[in-house]
Amino acid sequence: MSDQNNQIKTSEIPVGVVGLGLMGSSIATCLLIAGHPVVAVAPISSDLLHAEKRIREHLLKSKANGLVVNDPEFYLRNLIITEEYTSLRDSQLVIECTIENKDIKASVYHKIEEVIAPEALLTSNTSAIPISILQKLTRHPERFFGLHWAEPSHTTRFLEIICGDQSKVERGEYLYQLSHLWRKEPILVRKDIPGFITNRLMYAMYREAIHLVENGYATIEDVDRSCRNNAGYFMTMVGIFRWMDLTGVQAYHTVMQNLLPTLYNGTEVPKLIDDVVKAGGNGVSNAKGFYDYTPEEAKLWEETFSKFTYQIRELALQYPADLIEKQLLKLKEENL
Ligand SMILES: NC(=O)c1ccc[n+]([C@@H]2O[C@H](COP(=O)([O-])OP(=O)(O)OC[C@H]3O[C@@H](n4cnc5c(N)ncnc54)[C@H](O)[C@@H]3O)[C@@H](O)[C@H]2O)c1
Repeated sequence: MSDQNNQIKTSEIPVGVVGLGLMGSSIATCLLIAGHPVVAVAPISSDLLHAEKRIREHLLKSKANGLVVNDPEFYLRNLIITEEYTSLRDSQLVIECTIENKDIKASVYHKIEEVIAPEALLTSNTSAIPISILQKLTRHPERFFGLHWAEPSHTTRFLEIICGDQSKVERGEYLYQLSHLWRKEPILVRKDIPGFITNRLMYAMYREAIHLVENGYATIEDVDRSCRNNAGYFMTMVGIFRWMDLTGVQAYHTVMQNLLPTLYNGTEVPKLIDDVVKAGGNGVSNAKGFYDYTPEEAKLWEETFSKFTYQIRELALQYPADLIEKQLLKLKEENL
């Protein structure tokens, strides 16, 4: 971590989170763990029914899994949950985390910008709405960025910081520094592109996976098995380019010549996922998705996945991106 990072004190940077659904709750948890005072705004009253409970549960599990040392109360004293946007007045950074709907996000930005200082940063956790479009809905587009988290935000190391056409890149660089204190391994996307980086990669895979099943090449179970046992073994440590380096770039070059023309590149939403959605399926959350679940099975998948997220984080932390560089540096020093 750079010297610049050491000078940033999270306790002196109040952060607002607006929208306390699945992601808003885990983002608030992450910020509390990092030491920020957090104002969590519920844009709809029903958020108040579950937000504190969810955050408390995240903190409890974080302690049980060794992610934090203190009890939930230690962190919760830095949290205000409210329906009042005026409580955001001192926030230096606000993270909007409402449903993926441009009009709703626009009305939320309007309410936020009524109260925050002109130099405070405003960000969105949007999955797919271009930042250049969202920032046009704000009064100060230069201070607007995408902050794209991965669920559960308090355990995952992923964070994309996305600049829109009008964002001031230097302020994006500040968010990049700050997010190291949230225990992230961030990515700064300097130029806006639909889907940012990760969703472009992932949706290429979702589309091909569905294509293979729809056309009878393999079952859903087999496609999942293939992904888990091949990509699943290297992704967390090395990503894509280092993987090709590790296993021989030339072979990839040869295979690309023959394989790329055969990959699916359709632009319609595929029938397989359309059928699930039209039948009301949402996956584990309502026990109906690509797989069918009894309520007990759905609960077990949810709990087991939650446990796994803590364990894979632990494992990944043993292999930080700069591990080898550090070892090389040590070797060099020993040989001097
Ligand atoms: N779920 C994920 O894994 C994930 C990952 C990355 C980004 N995102 C993005 O994060 C955002 C929130 O997603 P989520 O999964 O937390 O959704 P969610 O459905 O759990 O929560 C949505 C929240 O939006 C707010 N909301 C709902 N209706 C509203 C209205 N009419 N006016 C104002 N606010 C309203 C509420 O606070 C609600 O809790 C979305 O933009 C989504 O695309 C989600």
